[in-house]
Parts: sequence; C-alpha cells; structure tokens
Amino acid sequence: MTPFKLIFLIPILVNINYAYADDTIVEIESGKIKGHILKSESGKDYYAFQEIPYAAKPIGENRFQPPKAPEPWSDILETTNNTKICYQYKRKYANLEISEDCLYINVYTPQKPTDAKVLPVLLWIHGGGFVNESSTFEYYGPKYLMDYGVVVVTFNYRLGAFGFVGTDDGVIPPNLGLKDQLFAMQWVNRNIKAFSGNPYQVVLVGESAGSISVGYHLLGPYVNDTKIFHAAIMQSGSPVGSELRTQNITNEAYKLAKALDPTFNSTDSSDILKLLQSASAEDILHSEVTGAVVLEQDGPFSYQAFPSFLNQNYKKIPVMIGFNSEEWAFLVWSRNKTQYGKFDEDPSLLVDPLINMSSENRTIAGNLLRQLYTGNTTFDENYGGFIRYVSDHMFTTATCKQVELASPEAPYYLYQFSYKGELGGQMSLLSLLPPGTGTVAHAEDLHYMWDDGSNSDLSQFPEEDGVMLQRYVEMWTNFVKYFVPTPEPVGNITWLPSEPSTLRYLNINTTFEMMENPRQYQQVKGILETYMEPPYTVFN
Ligand SMILES: *[C@@H]1O[C@H](CO)[C@@H](O)[C@H](O)[C@H]1NC(C)=O
Ligand SMILES: *[C@@H]1O[C@H](CO)[C@@H](O)[C@H](O)[C@H]1NC(C)=O
Ligand SMILES: *[C@@H]1O[C@H](CO)[C@@H](O)[C@H](O)[C@H]1NC(C)=O
Ligand SMILES: *[C@@H]1O[C@H](CO)[C@@H](O)[C@H](O)[C@H]1NC(C)=O
Ligand SMILES: *[C@@H]1O[C@H](CO)[C@@H](O)[C@H](O)[C@H]1NC(C)=O
Ligand SMILES: *[C@@H]1O[C@H](CO)[C@@H](O)[C@H](O)[C@H]1NC(C)=O
Ligand SMILES: *[C@@H]1O[C@H](CO)[C@@H](O)[C@H](O)[C@H]1NC(C)=O
Ligand SMILES: *[C@@H]1O[C@H](CO)[C@@H](O)[C@H](O)[C@H]1NC(C)=O
Ligand SMILES: *[C@@H]1O[C@H](CO)[C@@H](O)[C@H](O)[C@H]1NC(C)=O
Ligand SMILES: *[C@@H]1O[C@H](CO)[C@@H](O)[C@H](O)[C@H]1NC(C)=O
Ligand SMILES: *[C@@H]1O[C@H](CO)[C@@H](O)[C@H](O)[C@H]1NC(C)=O
Repeated sequence: MTPFKLIFLIPILVNINYAYADDTIVEIESGKIKGHILKSESGKDYYAFQEIPYAAKPIGENRFQPPKAPEPWSDILETTNNTKICYQYKRKYANLEISEDCLYINVYTPQKPTDAKVLPVLLWIHGGGFVNESSTFEYYGPKYLMDYGVVVVTFNYRLGAFGFVGTDDGVIPPNLGLKDQLFAMQWVNRNIKAFSGNPYQVVLVGESAGSISVGYHLLGPYVNDTKIFHAAIMQSGSPVGSELRTQNITNEAYKLAKALDPTFNSTDSSDILKLLQSASAEDILHSEVTGAVVLEQDGPFSYQAFPSFLNQNYKKIPVMIGFNSEEWAFLVWSRNKTQYGKFDEDPSLLVDPLINMSSENRTIAGNLLRQLYTGNTTFDENYGGFIRYVSDHMFTTATCKQVELASPEAPYYLYQFSYKGELGGQMSLLSLLPPGTGTVAHAEDLHYMWDDGSNSDLSQFPEEDGVMLQRYVEMWTNFVKYFVPTPEPVGNITWLPSEPSTLRYLNINTTFEMMENPRQYQQVKGILETYMEPPYTVFN
C-alpha cells in the first residue's frame, strides 16, 4: 500500500469507528439506520429499530405489483417510531397513520446489535383477517419477550384488496400480501445478522390470519432451497381449513373494477390494472372488495394445504400449534336466528361447500354433525352447540388435521389455551356463555405475549395472570431457542409432541396437563371421512 492511499484511508476508518461507537446505529443492505434504547419488563435495555423500509413504497406503478427492493439511502435513517399501517378502516391507536406506504419492518434486540454472539429470531406475522391490524409497537410491544434472549421482528404486509386481489393471468399478481410476507422473511435472512440475530435460527410465528399465513409458508419446498425459517408457531388458524381463501380471484378483480367504475366492462387484465392503479386508495377500501388467498399455477403459493399435508409436500420442521378453548365465543353477543336457524333447517350446510360430497351424503353427514354438536336437539335449543361448531369449523378441526398428518414426520407441539384471565380480556363473555362451551376466545392469547397498551402494567391484574404470562413467554421463547417448549419442565409439565392416533396436547390452564383427543375432533373426523370424496381440497 502506498503512503498516498494510506492518507485517504485513515479518515475513513476514523469515521467508521465513530459511527459504530453508537450502538443504536446499524448498517443494513440499503443504508444506515438509527434506532433507540427502550426498557424490557424487568428494566433491562433493549434496542428498537422501527419502521425500516423492507420494500419500495407500493404506490403508483408499484401498487398491485410484487414487492421490490427499496431505494438505498445515504444519510442515517431515523428508525425510532413507527406510525404507518396498511390501508384499513380503523386505527386502534391515535398516533397511527393509515397509508398505502406501509411496507415496514421492526427489529428489537435485547443485546447490542454489534455483539458477536447471535440470538435466535422470533419473526411475527400479525393477524386481522387479512384486512385489519398491523405490526406497530402499539399493537405488538415486545417488552415481555425482551427478557428472554431472542431477537423479535414484526412487519406490515398489504391488506384487503391491496394485498389480496389479483388476476389468474398474473397481470395483477394474486396473493401480494403473502408475497410481501415472503419478501420480509427474505429481508430477515439477509439483514438480521446486523442486529445480532441468527439467520440460521429463525422461527416464524403468527396468530389468526398470521397463523394461516405461517401455514402457507410451510407448504412445498423452500424457495430456491434457501431455508429462511427453521421452525414455526401457529396460534389459531391453519390453511388446511377453508378460511380466508377464494376459488376465483379474477372475479374479485372484476368486482373491484365495477365498484370503482360502474360503467367499466373490460375483461382485459391490463385495463383493470390501469383502473386500479389510478383509483383513489379510499375508493378501493370502500369498495368492500377484499380478495383472499388463491391457489396459483406455480411458485411458492401453488400448494393446497390439505393435499400437501396428505402428500408429504411440506417443510418437515418443528411446529408448535394450537387454539383457544372457544375461539368464536363472540357469538353469544349476536345470537341471531336468521343466521343459525338455517343450519337447523338444512344441516347439510354444516359440511363445508369446498368438501366434495354427494348431496345425499351431505345431508347424512350434516345431520350427524348436528346431532354431535346439539346432543340430538337443535341449535335453537342448544346454542352452545352452535358456538362449538363454529369454533371448530373455523379453527380447531383444520388445526387438528394438520397435526394428525404432519406429526409422524416432524415434532408437532399441540396446545389448547384454556386459561381465562383478566389479562386476556373478554371477561364479559363469561356470564353469557352457555354450558358446555369453553371460555377463552380468539386472540386472548396475544395478551400473554405482547404488550398492546391494555396489559402494560401487570400490577393492575391478578397475580396468577402474571404467572401465566411468564410461563407462556418462557415456553414460546424456549421453542424459539431450542425448538422444544419445555427443555426443563414449565408449570411442572414436560410438553410432549403430539402423535396422530391420540392427538396428545398440552392443556394450558391454571394448571398444565397433557391430555388427548381435543374437543370433538375424532367424532367430526369420523363423520367427514366416511362421506367425503376426492379431490380433497379442505378439511374443516
Ligand atoms: C411517533 O410519531 C407520531 C406521529 O408523527 C407522534 O404522534 C408520536 O408522538 C411519535 N412517538 C414517539 C415515541 O416519538
Ligand atoms: C376489521 O375492522 C373493521 C373495522 O374496525 C371491523 O368492522 C371488521 O369486523 C374487522 N374485520 C376483521 C376480519 O377483523
Ligand atoms: C429463485 O430462483 C429463480 C431462478 O433462478 C429466480 O428467478 C428468483 O428470483 C429466485 N427467487 C428468489 C426469491 O430468490
Ligand atoms: C373465474 O370466473 C371468470 C368469470 O367471472 C371465468 O372466466 C374464469 O374462468 C374463472 N376462473 C377460474 C380459475 O375458475
Ligand atoms: C362497454 O362500455 C363501452 C363504453 O362505456 C360501450 O361502448 C360498450 O358497448 C360496452 N360493452 C359491453 C360489452 O357492454
Ligand atoms: C340477523 O341476521 C340477518 C342475516 O344476516 C340480518 O339481515 C339481520 O339484520 C340480523 N338481525 C339482527 C337483529 O342483527
Ligand atoms: C366429487 O366426487 C365424485 C364422486 O367420486 C366425482 O365424480 C366428482 O368428479 C367429484 N367432484 C369434483 C369437483 O371433482
Ligand atoms: C344421539 O342419537 C344417536 C343415534 O340415535 C345416538 O347414538 C347418540 O348417543 C345420541 N346422542 C346423545 C347425546 O344423546
Ligand atoms: C380451566 O381451569 C378452570 C379453573 O380451574 C376450570 O374451571 C376450567 O374448567 C378449566 N378449563 C379447561 C378447558 O381446562
Ligand atoms: C406444580 O406443583 C406444585 C406442587 O405440587 C403445585 O402447587 C402447582 O400448582 C403446580 N403447578 C402447575 C402449573 O401445575
Ligand atoms: C355415500 O357414502 C357412502 C359411504 O361412504 C358411499 O358408499 C356412497 O357411495 C356415497 N354415496 C354417494 C351417492 O356418493
């Protein structure tokens, strides 16, 4: 090296050292970012980097198109506050801003990002029925998780029509919301090292629509053989069921175009794209067309879940999976005979329309299902039976089927979350629920893991709720760290993996207990399997 070059090198080195002396500055592939230090529940510092762009803004010609890399930046980008949430009707928190410009990711790490030791990564996919919610700090504050030695990542993906309308010819690519998710997962694979996260130990975790999403990412082989996640947690939702999917996405695009312009009558996808790209975001939202997940011809979203699990075409990695004890308990608030009465009149409607069954057998199977859930009465006389049916149909049956099919090939840790605490919320359900139903409704589990503002101060809650939260976070982060929830017993229990004949599961309640055969899964399975015929598309 000549002395001349050396002179130029010295100031650069000094600069770099100067920049890195600040632990809140991190360099990722698109540029430098500056985060800030927050406090975990136990009062330890953690590093938060919020609203990092992981994709280009999906606006203008990027609207209704696959995610692309963001423009690199040269200044240090301030990443200390996230306010942007994807297009939806309501913001639950006043500081948030509904925006199409919403493809951002947040990284939280309990140690200095420069630490040589890398930590396992919990990569969260939020729920909200593919139409609501977001990953922001307000919804998913990590202060409880930050005491357990894992890096936590949350991100937004496009919702409603913006993420789930498309055309079969791919001019408007379908499943953009899932493609955003995959893009974010690939970003984590490339960048998480900069935050002291281990790219070789990433656990994909989701709840509700997020859980169904995790299920979709489990199907088929890894994209280009790059193993971008290594285990998964699915809370309340499996793609084996029929929720949140559609058979014909092009029709959704037609419907949206018609809603935006009633005189529009072209069926040419590029005309539709032009219309959708020039419409106002508000009008797209208010069209009420939301789209849904659709099966593609090829690529990572070309696998139907039920046949994929039947045919061993999925990623055989450790999975923790389960449901709450009465997912759709909310039905007690809206008892409406017009809605449930039709199942008393025509029980064949209890069999999902996507299940292939002759009409005679659909009537037989439907009657058996009604007998099972009502104890040989009617839903009118046994409304609790209707609640149980809906909880199973939307969540439990598909989850159990996934466990039954995959547990011989990979460790599957099945749970039912039955702990009813004030921390979980929905206490007003308790006095209303008919006998025979569970008590823990959809999404209550989130409060034992994330700080969403309602549960920031544990001293406001019964002590046993805090104990539950601590056990819950311990098991969940154990799984992220060891791919096993109880390397040492938690709540006196060693949680054993499930197996197909008994569907062994952990009942998470005031006490923990290993149990078998959740709810009425075996009976429902017996009825459906007697009468359904190929092709097999869903099981729920
Ligand atoms: C984040 O930004 C929002 C909107 O600009 C603002 O209302 C809020 O106070 C900011 N929060 C923090 C912690 O800086
Ligand atoms: C989404 O939010 C809207 C407005 O708050 C609500 O009416 C709707 O039920 C929600 N949908 C889902 C699937 O969560
Ligand atoms: C996977 O490989 C194909 C073909 O080489 C390439 O076109 C595509 O961009 C790759 N996808 C990803 C996500 O890396
Ligand atoms: C979707 O519906 C349209 C008519 O609205 C039809 O032309 C098209 O073939 C359908 N696509 C599929 C995959 O069924
Ligand atoms: C479509 O709309 C155009 C202009 O609004 C009209 O001229 C044409 O006849 C319509 N075509 C059909 C098939 O309705
Ligand atoms: C009951 O459900 C029907 C059909 O969905 C709806 O039209 C009606 O408004 C509902 N009634 C009440 C009281 O909510
Ligand atoms: C449903 O099953 C029947 C009987 O096996 C079969 O003839 C029919 O083609 C199947 N339906 C579909 C949509 O494939
Ligand atoms: C309902 O009736 C069926 C057939 O008669 C019988 O096998 C079953 O035990 C009955 N169930 C209940 C809860 O009475
Ligand atoms: C959970 O525990 C409560 C209180 O001990 C009990 O009443 C309830 O039946 C239990 N539920 C389940 C499903 O274990
Ligand atoms: C664990 O065992 C102790 C002593 O037997 C008991 O008091 C406690 O309730 C148990 N905890 C759980 C979660 O079962
Ligand atoms: C109805 O189901 C029975 C029992 O699985 C089967 O033998 C029969 O062929 C089915 N009937 C029709 C019309 O599909």
